[in-house]
Amino acid sequence: MPSRAVTVHPTACVRGLVRLPGDKSISHRYALLAAIASGSTTIRGYSTGGDCASTLRCLEGLGVVMAAGPASPHGREVTIAGRGIGGLRVPSGTLDAGNSGSTIRMLSGILAAHPFTTRIDGDHSLRTRPMRRVMVPLEKMGARFESTEGRPPLSITGRPDLTPIDYEPEVPSAQVKSAILLAGLHARGTTRVTERIETRDHTERALAAFGVTVQRHGPVIGVDGGQTLIGRELDVPGDISSAAFWMAAATALPGSDVTIEQVGLNPSRIGILDVLRRMGARIETDIVDERGHEPIGRIRIRHEAFTSTVITPEEVPGVIDELPVLAALAAQGGELSVSGAQELRVKESDRISALAAGLRALGADIEERQDGFTVRSPRRLTGGRADALGDHRLAMAFSIAALSATGPSIIDDAGAADVSYPGFFSVLDSLRA
Ligand code: S3P
Repeated sequence: MPSRAVTVHPTACVRGLVRLPGDKSISHRYALLAAIASGSTTIRGYSTGGDCASTLRCLEGLGVVMAAGPASPHGREVTIAGRGIGGLRVPSGTLDAGNSGSTIRMLSGILAAHPFTTRIDGDHSLRTRPMRRVMVPLEKMGARFESTEGRPPLSITGRPDLTPIDYEPEVPSAQVKSAILLAGLHARGTTRVTERIETRDHTERALAAFGVTVQRHGPVIGVDGGQTLIGRELDVPGDISSAAFWMAAATALPGSDVTIEQVGLNPSRIGILDVLRRMGARIETDIVDERGHEPIGRIRIRHEAFTSTVITPEEVPGVIDELPVLAALAAQGGELSVSGAQELRVKESDRISALAAGLRALGADIEERQDGFTVRSPRRLTGGRADALGDHRLAMAFSIAALSATGPSIIDDAGAADVSYPGFFSVLDSLRA
């Protein structure tokens, strides 16, 4: 990823209409399922971010044939020729998952059922990320893994006749749940995952979209092996985690008025709206399309007031990717306290210490704890020089914090934004008012 530094100037407010690239989580899933489906799948609005390109690159390395159209601000169209269940080919070399934890973890679930050894590696950040959370359940199902103390590069040796398991992941994680359910598609019998705290349900919805029956009994999600996935046409809604940056800016800056169109409003992803309302935003939402497997709608957001709030451990999985920008928002007025968010330490960076360092560099008052942080804003941010440390969400969160500062800021490694939101800085300039 480019390590470009970007200077962000303050603005009075943000106003305008935004359409976002396709949701990153949903794009990964549609591509992975398309690869093991029977027949062809066309995905419209596929995320243009680096992470979702990593998934396509890995699938190509496994013999999947695809055609990707040009990138537009709303995503790209990708057509994938499915190879059917168990149909991936032995790769000729190491697969590169880049910066993408979703790619390596979810693809592991599929590779667990393929009777050959695949080596998957990634960038410096991915090599620090914990993989035992997928290795342990997939080994129980019959796959074999080699790793560097539970971190990439991973070598996965699969087996076509996996054993179904009933499993309760130690940490709430949609990636872990998904890896197990994807392996379960290839097992003899029913594989079940129990979630103590609900996580995003895009895999369950995507499986249903491809014609798979998914069972849900309270906190238990099950899938029977031996089902065929049918290729189809799919639309990816805009990414609400990318929308979060504009929503935070609109909440922070008086006079702001931003409308986000064609955005995903899946109930397991809209925790951010509740938190923003508690922080003083005026938000209107309406679902405009529920025909697909993911609800799509519109969000209008305006500044109203600035208040303090607390995010509890139960709420954390629903806003995990939005915590950096919520901290950036709290640094501009109000107060935010987050606990039970130790998972942030094993994201693309240690998102607690890197967030604290960056926001402090811009003039914020932030107290760091093992499992969270408290941000206060006794005075206006001064601006300064913050380092995103290669982490896309930090690059964008620091840029949003910089908008209300008294002077300009330099965000180092701001090019990391391309991992999930290429075009972020041009949209930022288009919303200045
Ligand atoms: C994701 C799940 C979350 C999230 C990540 C995307 C997904 O990770 O932080 O950005 O698409 O399933 P965990 O599963 O590690 O919580």
